[in-house]
Amino acid sequence: MNIIRNKFVHLGGNVKIWHHSNIYGTRKYPVQIGDDTQVGSFCEVKPGVTIGRRCRLQSFIFISEMTEISDDVFIGPHVLILNDKYPTTAKIFQNKYVPQPARIAHHVTIGGGAIIGPDIKLGHHAVIGMGAVVVKSVAPYAIVAGNPARIIGRVNDKKYQKNFPVEYANRVRRSGKTK
Ligand SMILES: CC(C)(COP(=O)(O)OP(=O)(O)OC[C@H]1O[C@@H](n2cnc3c(N)ncnc32)[C@H](O)[C@@H]1OP(=O)(O)O)[C@@H](O)C(=O)NCCC(=O)NCCS
Repeated sequence: MNIIRNKFVHLGGNVKIWHHSNIYGTRKYPVQIGDDTQVGSFCEVKPGVTIGRRCRLQSFIFISEMTEISDDVFIGPHVLILNDKYPTTAKIFQNKYVPQPARIAHHVTIGGGAIIGPDIKLGHHAVIGMGAVVVKSVAPYAIVAGNPARIIGRVNDKKYQKNFPVEYANRVRRSGKTK
């Protein structure tokens, strides 16, 4: 487990962080990770990030400062979650960098290699296709894919009901139990 300055990284019960992941909590911007969440190898979690309970983060994920991730979120490998639309070194050196973090609601699924842009909200139960470039917020239950990401379906469409069972997900959330 690799945790940078672990005094400012608050881990819930049964959290697992796999090898070579850096979790950068600071005094001003601690990192919070909820019960039963797992973070895969080679992930980068920046200051001020909050991650909910029962999340599954696969490997090689970059999560920029102040990103909010709710409960039961799945994030595939190589996902980037960004927070500055117009990044420059000048902003950083002049201390004018103000993060515009993404907010990811409960039960969102993000496919491998997707990019979530700054200031994006992903509504609960939304699904982001592999490789999507998300430049606009996504409504709850929507399935989006492509660059730029566009809606290709909804999780309650007949085609997806088995794969993204919303009722089951809600039961787990209410009871707080995965079994
Ligand atoms: C988004 C997703 C759920 C859609 O599943 P689906 O609807 O069963 O996919 P289909 O193969 O039936 O494709 C439906 C249409 O969307 C397109 N499409 C599907 N996934 C796409 C993607 N990621 N990017 C762009 N287009 C995509 C297909 O080309 C197809 O278009 P068409 O109707 O013009 O032919 C799925 O493709 C996906 O990306 N899953 C995430 C996988 C992943 O990253 N897993 C990580 C764990 S290893």
